[in-house]
Parts: sequence; structure tokens; C-alpha cells
Amino acid sequence: NGGDVSGFNAVIRAILKTAENNGVECYGFIDGYRGLLKNNFVKLSTSGDGNAVGILPKGGSIIGSSTNANVFQYPVEEDGKKVYKDLSDICVENIRKDEIDCLFTLGGDATQKSARDLSLKGINVIGVPKTIDNDVACTEITFGYNTAVSVAADALDRLHTTGETHHRIMVLEVMGRYAGWIALESAIAGGADVALIPEIPYDINKAAEAIKRRQAKGKNFSIVVVSEGAMSKDGENETHSAEGIDAQAGISIKFGGIGPKVAKELQELTGLEARCTVLGYMQRGGTPTAYDRVLSTKYGAKAMELA
Ligand code: F6P
Repeated sequence: NGGDVSGFNAVIRAILKTAENNGVECYGFIDGYRGLLKNNFVKLSTSGDGNAVGILPKGGSIIGSSTNANVFQYPVEEDGKKVYKDLSDICVENIRKDEIDCLFTLGGDATQKSARDLSLKGINVIGVPKTIDNDVACTEITFGYNTAVSVAADALDRLHTTGETHHRIMVLEVMGRYAGWIALESAIAGGADVALIPEIPYDINKAAEAIKRRQAKGKNFSIVVVSEGAMSKDGENETHSAEGIDAQAGISIKFGGIGPKVAKELQELTGLEARCTVLGYMQRGGTPTAYDRVLSTKYGAKAMELA
């Protein structure tokens, strides 16, 4: 459930293989919580020509996923108006009716919050921490994060050569919401000169000074990584868009625009030409790294072992 990450299928596969080795049947709810609500599920199998054969390196999720499907505050139409209803009892009923012994929730903070609430209603739930942002509480590392960092580091390598050739400041905007993990670790891996993260409000003049110091040493290009949730010291938040906000349903704000803003300001302050690249959904799609395949496999196998 929630935004997809690379490694989703690897977790599903490990759950299935461990289950199959122990004579346990597994079913997947189509599109996560939405499927649970509609009781829309499919039997999953890794044997023969089963629907889960060969999925280890495959990006996305073979059973889909839904973002913003909070079953405790689900948007429904009533008399032409959008209202929010707690439909979690329907999910509980479906789980009981389908005789499901244990529910695995592969998701980030919002998914796991609902998972906890379902467990409070008596459902056996095992949460597997998923998100490229690496910001799930009580967890050192989430699956999908390593792939996102690798994609960002690769982008930085590519920006490095074009930036150096044209003597430019190359700004890369990465995802992460309120967590700077992707920005910070890709910056280290990609040898960036400046990293702006949400946890530390930035002073654009300091960033410009760092670039000028490099210029003074004869380096007339710089690499800057900006996390989508980074914010300047004066607290400007025009890059945190209100579009799509639905606070009642627990739908959070959209980020976007900090990269171009930082590039423009750095160009003005340093006199160097600046260009911005927004990496976006490249960080979530495609095949997982070997690290994420291993982590996802360990998570999936352990989850079924616990079940
Ligand atoms: O939480 C994962 C994430 O990819 C964030 O880094 C990003 O801000 C958000 O999801 C984008 O969400 P959506 O898929 O709704 O555009």
C-alpha cells in the first residue's frame, strides 16, 4: 500500500516462497487497502506458471498499490457531496469472511498507522517497512530506499560531467518529503558540494559562498542536491504546494519547486549559470538494487516466519 518502491515484488516473492515451503496459502489484495475494502483479491503463487513467477527484479507491484486510501477516513460521495467515513469495519469483516489468519502490510508511515489501528480491532497484522524516504519510525532502513539513493547518485555522476563541461551549477532535486536521507546519502555517494535537507533550514548565501570558495580554487562548476522538503531559514514554504491537500482524509501536501528556486538564487548570487534537474519518480520505478533485493527478501521471509 502507498507509493510504490523498487523491492515491493521482492518482498511479496519472499513471503510467498516461505509460505509455500510451509504449506501456507497467500492472497494479495489488489491495490492494497482499496482491495481490502472491496474484498478484491487474487491467489498468489511462485510455482509453475503462477502469477508471481520471475518477479524478484521487477519494479512496481504485481498487485498494484493505492496512495491515500485511508480506510479509517475514506472519501465517499453522499448526496453529491464528498464525505469521510470510517470503513475499517468492512475491512475487518472481509478479513474474517475470507478466513485470513494474518495480514501483511507493506507500506510507509500512513499504511502502518492504519495497520496498527486494524490490529487494535483484533486483526493479526505484520507490518513490513517500505518507502524510498526511509522515514518509518522504529526502523533503521526501509526497502526501496537504497535503490532511490543509487538512482540519485547515478544522476549526480551524470550531472557532474555535463556541469564540469559547461562550467555550471547543477542542482538536483530529490524526493524524501520531510526526511533528508535520499539527499544526504546521494550527495555523499555522488560527491556533491552542497546538500540542502529539510532537517536543517538553509541559508542560500552560505551555499553560494561554498560555491564561490570552489571558484576561487579554480573549480568553476558545482553540484548541489536539494531535498524536495528543504526550506530556507526564513521559512518560505512556497514550494510546499497546497494542491491535493485533503487534511480530513490524512492526505498530505505535495512538494515541488524547491530545485528551480535554489538554482535561480544561486545563479544570481554567484554569477555562474545554473541548471536544475528534478529526478521525481525515477527514484521509485525500475529494478531494485542488489541491496534492496536482499533486504526485501529478508523482510519477506522473516514476516512469514513471524506469521
Ligand atoms: O513517500 C514517498 C514519496 O515518493 C515522496 O518522496 C514523495 O513526496 C511522494 O511520495 C510523492 O507521492 P505521490 O505518488 O502521491 O505523487
